[in-house]
Amino acid sequence: MDNMLKDSVACGCEIQSEDWDLIICRCEEVTRGDILRAINEGATTVEEIKRRTRAGMGLCQSKTCCRSVQKIIAEVTGQPVSNIPPFTSRPPARPVSIAVLASLSEEDPQ
Ligand code: FES
Repeated sequence: MDNMLKDSVACGCEIQSEDWDLIICRCEEVTRGDILRAINEGATTVEEIKRRTRAGMGLCQSKTCCRSVQKIIAEVTGQPVSNIPPFTSRPPARPVSIAVLASLSEEDPQ
């Protein structure tokens, strides 16, 4: 891991855990070190972390990693976790063909 990040980040806050390679976002394989690096580069919100690292952009849409990202930001910036807004929720979207939708009305004429 970067020597620059071992003891503190840009804000001067102490980093308590040395577990830099811990996977925080399993869907996008984003580590704790990736998130700390993003914070060191100026990211201070979960949305900024998301744009820089892709954390929260995976299949689960941040259901698994959101709280961990919030906790890391809170740890580094010294804020309570309740002050860190979560990722913006977006429902999973998949294309559905018109033929599939049309077949639904024929099967269920209620
Ligand atoms: S664990 Fe981060 S998006 Fe799924």
